[in-house]
Amino acid sequence: MAITMEISFCLKFWIFSLVISNVIAQNATDNLKYVNPLIGSANGGNVFAGATLPYGMAKAVADVDSSSNQGGFTSEGGRVTGFSTMHDSGTGGSPSLGNFAFFPSAACPDDDVNRCVYPKVRRALHYCEDSVKATPGYFGLTLENGIQAEMTASQHTSLFRFKIPSGGNGTSPLILLDLTDLSNTRQDNGTISLDGTSGRMTGSARFQPSFGVGTWVGYFCADFSGAPLRDNGIWVNSRADPTVKDLTINRGINGGGPLPGGGFTRFSTNPESGILARIGVSLISAEQACASAEAEIPDFDFEQTQKVAEEAWRSKLSPIKLDSTGVDESLVTNFFSGIYRTMVNPQNYTHENPKWTSEEPYFDSFYCLWDSFRSQLPFLTVLDPLAVEHMIRSLIDTYEHEGWLPDCRMSTCKGYTQGGSNADVVLADAYIKGLRSGIDWEKGYAAVVKDAEVEPFLWSVEGRGGLDSWKTLGYIPTEDFDYKGFGTFTRSVSRSLEYAYDDFCIAQMADGLGHSADVQKYVERSGNWKNLFYAEQESKLFDGTDTGFRGFFQGRYANGTWHTQDPLWCSAIDPDGSRVCSLQNNGQETFESSLWEYGFYVPHDQAALIDLYSGPTSFVNRLNYLHDQNITYIGNEPSFLTVYQYHWAGRPALSAERVHFYIPRFFSPTVDGLPGNDDSGAMGSFVAFSMLGLFPTPGQNIYLLTPPFFPSVSITSPLTNRTATIRAENFDPSYSSVYIQSATLNGANYTRNWIGHEFFSEGGELVLVLGAQESSWGTGKADLPPSVTDGLGGGNGTGNGTVERRWMGGSVGSMKWS
Ligand SMILES: *[C@@H]1O[C@H](CO)[C@@H](O)[C@H](O)[C@H]1NC(C)=O
Ligand SMILES: *[C@@H]1O[C@H](CO)[C@@H](O)[C@H](O)[C@H]1NC(C)=O
Ligand SMILES: *[C@@H]1O[C@H](CO)[C@@H](O)[C@H](O)[C@H]1NC(C)=O
Ligand SMILES: *[C@@H]1O[C@H](CO)[C@@H](O)[C@H](O)[C@H]1NC(C)=O
Ligand SMILES: *[C@@H]1O[C@H](CO)[C@@H](O)[C@H](O)[C@H]1NC(C)=O
Ligand SMILES: *[C@@H]1O[C@H](CO)[C@@H](O)[C@H](O)[C@H]1NC(C)=O
Ligand SMILES: *[C@@H]1O[C@H](CO)[C@@H](O)[C@H](O)[C@H]1NC(C)=O
Ligand SMILES: *[C@@H]1O[C@H](CO)[C@@H](O)[C@H](O)[C@H]1NC(C)=O
Ligand SMILES: *[C@@H]1O[C@H](CO)[C@@H](O)[C@H](O)[C@H]1NC(C)=O
Ligand SMILES: *[C@@H]1O[C@H](CO)[C@@H](O)[C@H](O)[C@H]1NC(C)=O
Repeated sequence: MAITMEISFCLKFWIFSLVISNVIAQNATDNLKYVNPLIGSANGGNVFAGATLPYGMAKAVADVDSSSNQGGFTSEGGRVTGFSTMHDSGTGGSPSLGNFAFFPSAACPDDDVNRCVYPKVRRALHYCEDSVKATPGYFGLTLENGIQAEMTASQHTSLFRFKIPSGGNGTSPLILLDLTDLSNTRQDNGTISLDGTSGRMTGSARFQPSFGVGTWVGYFCADFSGAPLRDNGIWVNSRADPTVKDLTINRGINGGGPLPGGGFTRFSTNPESGILARIGVSLISAEQACASAEAEIPDFDFEQTQKVAEEAWRSKLSPIKLDSTGVDESLVTNFFSGIYRTMVNPQNYTHENPKWTSEEPYFDSFYCLWDSFRSQLPFLTVLDPLAVEHMIRSLIDTYEHEGWLPDCRMSTCKGYTQGGSNADVVLADAYIKGLRSGIDWEKGYAAVVKDAEVEPFLWSVEGRGGLDSWKTLGYIPTEDFDYKGFGTFTRSVSRSLEYAYDDFCIAQMADGLGHSADVQKYVERSGNWKNLFYAEQESKLFDGTDTGFRGFFQGRYANGTWHTQDPLWCSAIDPDGSRVCSLQNNGQETFESSLWEYGFYVPHDQAALIDLYSGPTSFVNRLNYLHDQNITYIGNEPSFLTVYQYHWAGRPALSAERVHFYIPRFFSPTVDGLPGNDDSGAMGSFVAFSMLGLFPTPGQNIYLLTPPFFPSVSITSPLTNRTATIRAENFDPSYSSVYIQSATLNGANYTRNWIGHEFFSEGGELVLVLGAQESSWGTGKADLPPSVTDGLGGGNGTGNGTVERRWMGGSVGSMKWS
C-alpha cells in the first residue's frame, strides 16, 4: 500500500520534470531569476536551501535525515523529519539548529491522536525528488504521502503552507511541533503551552551550539490559520492527549538524544487551499517571538510574504548589471547563486541578543571567520557595505561585552578558533576600504591589539595562544610550554603564519589611526613567519619521488630544533586517511592543510617569499606543482589565494588560467556542484569574485585583476552610488582568450595587475583588452601588488590615473582619477 502510494504521488512530478539544456544567456535583466538556492545541497556543500531574507534569522526548510544535513535539507534523497525554522548554511561539524520543526499528518488512524506518529525517527518520510522547488524566499516539496509543504520567511518568522490530499481519512489533519533540534542537543526542561481557544503554541528550550561552547535558549510562538481548530494538546514520545495543554520535558537519561515531545493541533476541515502554520522565533522571549510574528506576517498572507522576501533579494542583487551576451546561462546562474549565498549568513539578530543590552547591531553565525575573512566578507564590502558596517559594529560590540572579538560564533555562543585571530583581518579589511559610518575604530583597534598582546585563558574560543613565545621567540613552538591559556596545542606552523599576517593587519590599522609607535612593532612581528622557514627541508611524494623542491616552513621546538612534519601530510594527496588534521589534540602543526600549501601563506610579503623561493620562476614552478599535483584542494579555503598568487610573480596570465582550471570544473551550478562545505558562502564568494575578475587579498587594499567571465559587469556602490564597470574587449565566451593584453582605467593606460577599493567606491571604467596569448601586461616590477618588504605604503605606481598607493586607511578616497 505504502509503495503504491509513493509511486502514484511522486510520479506526476517525474512527468512534469524539466529537461535541462544549455541556454545562452540574454542580458540579465532580473538577476534574481538566476539564483538557484539548491546549488550545494548535496555532496557535502551543506548549504541552507530554504526560504530566508538576506541575513534573516528565520530560515525555513525541510529537514532530512541523510548525512550532510548540516543546513537542514539535502538533495540526496533522505527522509524528511520535519519543517523547521532556524538554520545555518554550508557549515561542517554537527548539523546546526533545525529548531521547532512542524510535521503534518493527513489524519490519525481511527481518528485517534495516539495513532498518529510523533517521534522524528518514526515519522520521517521520503520526498518526491522532482517536487523540490527553491527560489529566493521560497521552498517547497511534496512528501511521498502526497502532502505538499511550502514555506516562506520574514526576518524572525516562517510561514508554512501544508496542502493535504483529500479523501480517505484526510479530513482532520494534524500538525505537530517538535521541541527537538536537528542534532538532538536539547537540554533539560524544554517547555510548550497551548491555548485551547486560539490554537497558539508557545514555549522554549535550551540547546547546544553546533561548533562551540555553552548553551543557548530559543523561544517560539506558533499560530495556525486556514482551517478551524478542532483540538490541541501535547505529546510525549509516542503518545498524545488533547486535554493536556502544558509540558515541561526532561532531556532523558537513557542516551540516544532528548526525549521526543512537543505539541499538536488538529483541524476540523481540510481545505484545498491548505493549512497555514506561522512560527515566530526569538532568543529573548516567547512574547517577543509572538510580537515579531504578528508584526511581520499579520494576515498569514503567503504570497505577500514571499513577494516581500523576493523583493529584498532583488534589491540586494540590484547593484550588479551584467552583460552576459554569448555566455552559457549556467555561468550566470553560478555567479548570482554564489552571490546569493554570501548573504544567507551571517544572521542579523539585532534586538535578539540575550547576552547584553546595547544600541549596537548584533550579528551572529560568523561561522567561522577563518572561512569568511578570505573572500565572503570582502565580497559584501563591495556589494553590501552597509551590512558589513553593521557586522563590524557587532564584532566590536562583542569585544566590548565579552572581552574578545569572536573568531567563530553561532547561536550567541563562542565557536572554536581554527587558526589566528581572524577578526583582526576582517577589521583591517573594512578599515582600509573606508567603512566608517558608526564604527568606533579606536575601540576596534583596542580589540585587535588585545588579540595581539593578551592571552586569554581559553584561546580555543578567542584570541591567540602562546603569546609569550610569540613575543620572545618570534614563533609558536611545536609543543609550546604555555601555562597561561589553553587550547589545542597543535597547528604551531599555521598559527604562526596566521598570527604574523594578523599582526601586519594591525600595523595597517595602527598607521591609519595614527598609533605610530605601534606600527613598527607590528610590522616587525609580521615578519615572524621567516623564523619557521627551514631551508633544508625536502619534500618527497609518497612513492618516494623527490618533488625537487627545497625549503619549507616547518615546526620548531622552543629550543630551536626543527620538527619533522612531512610537507605533504594533510595535503589533498596524503594517502593516510587516518591522519588527523583538524582541531583534535593529536593533530598536526598545520590546520586542515599541508606545509606545502601553508608555504604560500604570507599574504603581506610575497616579494620576500618569492626571494626565499629563489625568484619568480621557481616560485611559479612551485605554485604550479601545488595545483597540478592536486596537493591543494579548492574545496577548502586556504587554497583560494593560491589560485591568484602568480600575480606577485609577474604572471597574471597564469592566475587567469588557473581560475578557468577551477571554474566551472569544481564549481558547477548543480546540487552536487560544490567541492566542499560552502562555509556560510565562502565558496560562493570565491566564485563571485573570480567571475567578476577581481580577487581580494583580504586585509589589504588589493584586488588582483583577471578577465571577467562576462563581456561586461558593473557594480554600483550602495555607499556612494558610483559605478565601477569592468569591460572585456575581444571577449571570448569559450575562454581561450583569457590573457590581458592591455588595459585602460577611465581611458588612460593601466598596467598594474591589481587595483584598489577606490575603484568600487569612486567608480570608473576598467577596460581589459583580451587576447589568446600571455602578454607582457602587468608583468613589470612596478605593476605588481605591493609587499611589506617594499615598505608600508610600498608599490611604485607608474600607471596613469593613479597616485602612490598607500596601505593605510587614510588613503581611501585620496586616489586621483584622470
Ligand atoms: C479511516 O477511518 C476509519 C473510520 O475511523 C477507520 O476505520 C479506518 O481504519 C481509517 N483508515 C486508515 C487508513 O487510517
Ligand atoms: C526541570 O524542572 C524540574 C521540575 O520543575 C526541576 O525539578 C528541575 O530542577 C528543572 N531542571 C532544570 C535544569 O532546570
Ligand atoms: C547586452 O547589453 C550590451 C550592452 O548594454 C549590448 O552591447 C549587447 O548587445 C546586449 N546583448 C543582448 C543579447 O541583448
Ligand atoms: C538588522 O536588523 C535591524 C533590526 O531589525 C535593522 O535595523 C538593520 O537594518 C538590519 N541590518 C541589516 C544590515 O540588514
Ligand atoms: C630540543 O627539543 C626537542 C623536543 O623536546 C628535542 O627532541 C631535541 O633534542 C632538543 N634539541 C636540543 C639541541 O636540545
Ligand atoms: C589531479 O586531479 C584531477 C582530477 O581532479 C586528475 O584529472 C589529475 O590527473 C590529477 N593529477 C595528478 C597529477 O594526479
Ligand atoms: C544614492 O542614490 C539613492 C537613490 O537615488 C539616494 O537615495 C541616496 O541618497 C544616494 N546616496 C548617495 C551617497 O549619493
Ligand atoms: C597606451 O598603450 C598603448 C598600447 O597598448 C600604447 O600604444 C600607447 O602609447 C600608450 N599610451 C600612453 C599614453 O602611454
Ligand atoms: C620602489 O621604489 C623604491 C625607491 O623609490 C625602491 O627602493 C623599491 O625597490 C621599489 N619597489 C618596487 C617594487 O619596485
Ligand atoms: C596620463 O594620461 C594623460 C591623458 O589622459 C596624459 O596627458 C599623460 O601624459 C599621461 N601620463 C602618463 C605618465 O602616462
